[in-house]
Amino acid sequence: MDFRQHTASLDTLASVACDALLVVLAGEKAERTLDATLARLLADAVAHGDFEFKRGKAVLLHRPAGVKAARVVFAACGAATPKSLKAAFAAGVGQLKGGGSRHVAVAVGGAGDASAELAEALVAAVGETTYVYRHTKPGAPAAGALERVTLLCGKAAAKAVTQGLARGQAVAAGVTLARELANRPGNHCTPTYLGEQAKKLGKEYGLKVEVLDRKAIEKLGMGSFLAVAQGSAEPPRFIVAQYHGAAKTQAPIVLVGKGITFDTGGISIKPAAEMDEMKFDMGGAASVLGTLRAVAELKPKLNLVVIVPTCENMPGGRAIKPGDVVKSMSGQTIEILNTDAEGRLILCDALTYAERFKPACVVDVATLTGACVIALGHHHTGLFTADDALAAQLLAASTASLDPAWRMPLDEEYEEALKSNFADMGNVGGRAGGAITAAMFLRKFTGKYRWAHLDIAGTAWKSGAAKGATGRPVPLLTHFVMSQAS
Ligand code: BES
Ligand code: MN
Ligand code: ZN
Repeated sequence: MDFRQHTASLDTLASVACDALLVVLAGEKAERTLDATLARLLADAVAHGDFEFKRGKAVLLHRPAGVKAARVVFAACGAATPKSLKAAFAAGVGQLKGGGSRHVAVAVGGAGDASAELAEALVAAVGETTYVYRHTKPGAPAAGALERVTLLCGKAAAKAVTQGLARGQAVAAGVTLARELANRPGNHCTPTYLGEQAKKLGKEYGLKVEVLDRKAIEKLGMGSFLAVAQGSAEPPRFIVAQYHGAAKTQAPIVLVGKGITFDTGGISIKPAAEMDEMKFDMGGAASVLGTLRAVAELKPKLNLVVIVPTCENMPGGRAIKPGDVVKSMSGQTIEILNTDAEGRLILCDALTYAERFKPACVVDVATLTGACVIALGHHHTGLFTADDALAAQLLAASTASLDPAWRMPLDEEYEEALKSNFADMGNVGGRAGGAITAAMFLRKFTGKYRWAHLDIAGTAWKSGAAKGATGRPVPLLTHFVMSQAS
């Protein structure tokens, strides 16, 4: 998709050359800023009950008289916030989906001149509505003929819009990569495949990418990660990718993503219903690789390390059994009471490995617990950290990127639940506060740096008719990383 900007005022829209003109109206007063032709079309649509100034409402007019564009779409938006503007852009572009428009010009009335945030929201909305999964369904219907989107804005906004479009496109490319990886079924997206994709990304952007095999992982002493991997015939991989945009001496940001390419639960096997969705259990890995791509595209002056432990969780003949005790890379022993709590077992060794980078901070991302879905549903990602400053930065990035997150508690009292008579800790803490005790488990491996954990179990994918990966939290992570640039 090609994104551009063009200087135009709202009272000249009727003469803009394009296949479709999308006019987003923030509030009823927005109508006063339109030229006479468009104002009449709008009043007509309202009078005939085809359009209302209500959030989510949009109407498509074909070949309206007096307008150069072959189509006009009006889309309503409540307050002129980036969030409701994004929803209106999505509704407007949705009207054109599957149609013949190749070039859409977008104007916003009632929101003042365009801004970087508005431009970024437009790119995000277009990316989200036009993505189509094809890897194992090459015949899936196209989203339409859309090739170019032009944002109409005033001269004064030009620079901000350029920046917003660039960031939006980098984030959208990262989101698309994350969706592509996570949507691939488990027999396609294996740990080996993820390793190859990381290598490919490294080649494309000139990044240092290492992919460790089982032997190398054994050498590092990752007894906990390997315990999960041992139940599967599919070999594990440990991916380390580095982006250098600042002096090598500058402490990097480290992102760690859970890469379970399929989670059967292991011997503590999951029920059959909806188990197919456990192919999305590498959503954390997909999102940190997507973020790496977005950051490599934007080239900020900072260093970033992305770490992905990846394997399958299977109930093979050599699989771990409830009660087994393993030794993590940190030296701490773990009693595996439930083999379905495998995410924390692979992440803990990756978190210990992260120490060698002397990180400025570490953020891990994981589809970690069903309990997080019960707590927050599918709207907010769960944020866990004992570091108030880091929490504030991540929440600010969440707000700015329209990628919601909610801070959860992480008080020491929750640690009690992980006590074991046979090891330094158990790997589960019971049903109560399951998302928190999972985070508490990870915390035991993060003493040497500033750390936060994002539980994306409810936000990494959608179920039902719209089943598919969302690419979240690539927007949040990209904004967070960019906010750390000097
Ligand atoms: N990958 C799952 C978490 C999950 C479950 C995400 C459902 C999204 C939807 C994770 O590995 C898991 O199985 N967690 C267990 C932990 C429990 C055994 C303490 C869970 O949430 O049931
Ligand atoms: Mn599991
Ligand atoms: Zn899992």
